Amino acid sequence: MLFSNFFVLAEEKTQPATDYVAQLEKLEEFLIVISFIACVLITLAFVYFAFRFRRKESREEGKATQHHNLPLEIVWSFIPFVIFMVSFAWGWLVYKDVRTPPKDSLEIQVYGQKWNWEFIYKNGRKTTNELYVPVDRPVKLIMTSRDVIHSFYIPTFKIKQDVVPGTYTFLWFKANHKGEFQVFCTEFCGAGHSSMGAKLNVLSLADWENWLKTDPYKGLSLVEIGQKAFQGRCTACHKPTQERLIGPGLAGLYNTKRDLEDGPVVLADENYLRESILNPGAKISKGYPNQMTPFAGLLSEEELSGLIEYIKSLK
Ligand code: CUA
Repeated sequence: MLFSNFFVLAEEKTQPATDYVAQLEKLEEFLIVISFIACVLITLAFVYFAFRFRRKESREEGKATQHHNLPLEIVWSFIPFVIFMVSFAWGWLVYKDVRTPPKDSLEIQVYGQKWNWEFIYKNGRKTTNELYVPVDRPVKLIMTSRDVIHSFYIPTFKIKQDVVPGTYTFLWFKANHKGEFQVFCTEFCGAGHSSMGAKLNVLSLADWENWLKTDPYKGLSLVEIGQKAFQGRCTACHKPTQERLIGPGLAGLYNTKRDLEDGPVVLADENYLRESILNPGAKISKGYPNQMTPFAGLLSEEELSGLIEYIKSLK
């Protein structure tokens, strides 16, 4: 393999992460080798001709001895044509594979939003910034955005697809072994773009089925539920300290007076926190951009109350 992967967090084996990683790497190697050979030949010819046909005396005029060389012209047209057609056919075969999910694919919904990824599984289980899939099963991601254009990219799997508001796009892959892999957003989508990543966890089928049935909030206190929801959804923009990120730091915010961008000073009580989560544009704190995605409809009551309790607990 000419290229190694830089984005594998933990891997069990060294076999390619998906089948088309191997296919794509072979194609890349072919293109690089062919380009290298062409580059060397052209450079050598260039140097040779520059020397061979250099001007020997001042005011010397070149004289053309021959206008055409049919066999030569056919050869230098035909060989590149064959190389281009081989690259095209080979690329098309791999592309067809990448774009055609098998019928028995496991479907998972993906939502991009500023600035996190949400995953919704068939049984209604939701995760944020953590995608769980079984090993050796084709998985089809049905993706859309809640705001601007994002792009879902798994470098180790060599797959990438734009995630566009108002339409579904898709990706499919079959993970060849268990492990953790990095997911990036690769479409510049605003201030939090660089922190819009997720982790892909590939589990054995049995582990994955068990995981699917677990309740992520089981046995947790309200504050802990809030902390978990915060870590999944809020950390691209807010810190649990007083430090400013894209939005205000949240520590010590509860029950203080907030200066608004336009309008009166308000008290950051439970109602203010609730409104600022569900409809952030309603009351913008002075000096901050109106950038936050409204979370109305995206959080359960449990998560909402948890988040408010968590913010109250931050001192
Ligand atoms: Cu989303 Cu960049």
